[in-house]
Amino acid sequence: MNIPSSLADKIKSARNVFVFTGAGVSKESGLSTFRGDDDSIWNKYDPEINATPEGFYSNPALVWNFCRDINLFTHAKPNPGHIALAQMEPYYDTFTIVTQNVDCLHEQAGSTDVVKIHGTCDLIRCTKCGHRAPASNFDFTHEFTPDNLPKCEKCGALYRPDIVWFGEYLPEEAINRASAALQRCDLMYVIGTSGEVSGGYGFAQHASAAGATVVEINPKRSSLTYFADYHLAGPSGEILPLLLDILKNS
Ligand code: OAD
Ligand code: ZN
Repeated sequence: MNIPSSLADKIKSARNVFVFTGAGVSKESGLSTFRGDDDSIWNKYDPEINATPEGFYSNPALVWNFCRDINLFTHAKPNPGHIALAQMEPYYDTFTIVTQNVDCLHEQAGSTDVVKIHGTCDLIRCTKCGHRAPASNFDFTHEFTPDNLPKCEKCGALYRPDIVWFGEYLPEEAINRASAALQRCDLMYVIGTSGEVSGGYGFAQHASAAGATVVEINPKRSSLTYFADYHLAGPSGEILPLLLDILKNS
């Protein structure tokens, strides 16, 4: 792919970068997207049952089995897209990644300023007292039944994944950090997200209106493409290393 020279100039001259990522950035690590592909998760599973508080409280075993089946607690590895993003960070004054992904692949790749607006898969959280425990303390490979659900070691209530389900608020601290990064950004990347949920639309709209350069990386168009000054159509694992090369060669 040829990167337009006007974009290369923006990439080199920007100082504060806001990166907004979704499930597509982890696809080349073997994780499924939620929408947009034939094997996407919401084509196979009902989000009302598997990703809402109501669904969890009516059948927690089913939700834990869903988490296992979509490899929520997997040991996936960062792909060249995550790694390129981590290596871009030192070239800028600030480089904040706001991700909808609950995987830890940005952190594993070496990114240091990662804001997780949909929670994280490395912890589980008590539904009653809020105690958090490392997910790695538990075995998520077996079949869950009402008799073997993970329970809080402090109070005995049910544990739940430490992620945001439909109908729940986004974590306030994460939103505050994302807003601060949004205010200062002069370059925004929108990578591997359909833009169908949460703040994505608002982030891209705000950055565009404030004059930041908005660059989308996605093999397909999304509901955020409208705000993009550049749409780089292809997999992020292939395109992000090309953008890193622009910085390395400057
Ligand atoms: P989606 O699954 O909605 O969108 C994934 C996007 O990634 C699509 O637009 C694909 O075209 C694109 N894509 C596919 N392969 C790609 C690749 N190799 N490189 C770059 N892009 C690629 O994912 P999100 O927008 O992250 O929330 O979904 C947002 C939220 O909806 C998720 O966090 C989850 C889901 O329901 C909850 O569970 C609450
Ligand atoms: Zn508890």
